[in-house]
Amino acid sequence: MLATAKLMPIIKVPDPILRQAAIPVAEITDGTRQLLDDMAATMYDAPGIGLAAPQVNISQRVIVIDCGKDDEPELIKMINPEILRISDTRTILEEGCLSIPDQTADVERPAEVEVQYLDENGASQSLVATGLLATCVQHEIDHLNGVLFIDHISRLKRDMIMRKVMKEMRQPTSRK
Ligand code: NI
Repeated sequence: MLATAKLMPIIKVPDPILRQAAIPVAEITDGTRQLLDDMAATMYDAPGIGLAAPQVNISQRVIVIDCGKDDEPELIKMINPEILRISDTRTILEEGCLSIPDQTADVERPAEVEVQYLDENGASQSLVATGLLATCVQHEIDHLNGVLFIDHISRLKRDMIMRKVMKEMRQPTSRK
């Protein structure tokens, strides 16, 4: 039986764990399921629409996503997700990241992706994602490869965001 989900501290830039490739989960255990529950609770509390394990200081290929509307949650838990196919059509959406507080940028990505992953019971699942969900899935899988959304924008914008976020984090009165 799993314990009550607990909130985990969210790792922020420039922590090096955010730049490491995470390791595949070899065996899905109650520990994995507990991690997924804790990550989901942490994501909802933030609040955010996606969270990858490196963002809670665990370098494993585990993500949670919920791009549902407020009154219709659609929690998806993915273990070892792989992108099988991307569309030629691309889309631009505004992205943010819990590890890069209070900063957003327009990011261009494939508009549709097909993803294969293991669910919390170890069953293989696949998902064709479009719209916000497609962007969110790619953003979270990027985290498992040490990639952040700011890597997809111009160097000028990236440097500007990093300067702002570092400045804000240095201020003792700044919000979390
Ligand atoms: Ni993120």
